[in-house]
Amino acid sequence: MDELKGLILSGGAGTRLRPITHTSAKQLVPVANKPVLFYGIEALVEAGISEIGIIVAPETGDEIRAAVGDGERFGASVTYIDQDQPLGLAHAVLTAEEFIGASPFVMYLGDNLLREGITDLVRAFRESEPDALILLTRVDDPQSYGVAELDGDQVVRLVEKPKDPPSDLALVGVYMFKASIFDAARAIEPSGRGELEITDAIQALIDGGDKVEPHIVQGWWKDAGRLEDMLDANRLVLEDLVTRIDGELIDSQVDGRVVVEEGAVLERSVVRGPAVIGAGTRISDSYVGPYTSIDRNVVITGSEIEHSIVLEGSSIRELHTRMEASLLGKNVSLTRSDGMPKTLRFLVGDNAEIAIP
Ligand code: TTP
Repeated sequence: MDELKGLILSGGAGTRLRPITHTSAKQLVPVANKPVLFYGIEALVEAGISEIGIIVAPETGDEIRAAVGDGERFGASVTYIDQDQPLGLAHAVLTAEEFIGASPFVMYLGDNLLREGITDLVRAFRESEPDALILLTRVDDPQSYGVAELDGDQVVRLVEKPKDPPSDLALVGVYMFKASIFDAARAIEPSGRGELEITDAIQALIDGGDKVEPHIVQGWWKDAGRLEDMLDANRLVLEDLVTRIDGELIDSQVDGRVVVEEGAVLERSVVRGPAVIGAGTRISDSYVGPYTSIDRNVVITGSEIEHSIVLEGSSIRELHTRMEASLLGKNVSLTRSDGMPKTLRFLVGDNAEIAIP
């Protein structure tokens, strides 16, 4: 088989993760203080794929270029491919035709995370050389996913969000294709939501007699497209954290698996892992609980935070209560104002969601 290329889809609108996506790409939201997208790049490189194309949108392309660069630090060579409008996953594939050429390739959705990586999948594709190979996982609510119907070791049908699911095997955001996918993507029409759907393109391959094989994921898989999924992904990645304390602890206590980066300072505080505290962050008179990722240069005083992601440059002061299941963007400021009456003060962007009991 020819050398495999990688195609990461990092465009899209990200409507389900507003307001974060008004100003930033969802693929750059950090999970355990590392952008989601980097996990995908690393998974490809680990599977031996170093020539990687990244699909970007006009709004967030520059930010992604700046974060990933030429790919050298990942051991990859990265080419950026502009997709002017988010017209669907199969449209993104067509946009990449020149980059892919005649090579077989792995398509990886830039907001997806897979615990086990994709090495096994790539090996299976190389060994049995089907026309396409799709990754599937068992889910409790197949009605919410693209679902595959199998006949032995072949995929015979794909259905989007079926009312009456043919199986509990949902499509995961990683696919392996050969160049035949381009003709299939050209043959389909936009769906009801106006997008060229990858499920329709794969169905077109099957209908044309191509061999599409399933591969069932063993470890966890997360599509970090919504707040709950992002927090869940953060929790799952933090589960595997290895303790490392490079920052400074002053009258503070750290329990369980915790990373405190160089230049971070904890004063009169308790951190109960799994949790990660970024470089230059200062936490005073506070409690940080399990499944929390605090990014770089954050200030936390007199507050409790659990099961949350706080992005760089934010500050949380004197909440005197517990914040949980939250995602704070960059440079967000949360304060309780002095004096009476006891009030809360926020500086909050468009479409934010804040719940106060
Ligand atoms: P989705 O999460 O399905 O779509 P989206 O990013 O537009 O988000 P939302 O539904 O919240 O509006 O996309 C999966 C991945 O593929 C994600 O990393 C974005 C990327 N993508 C593209 O690159 N081009 C596209 O045309 C689409 C639809 C998605």
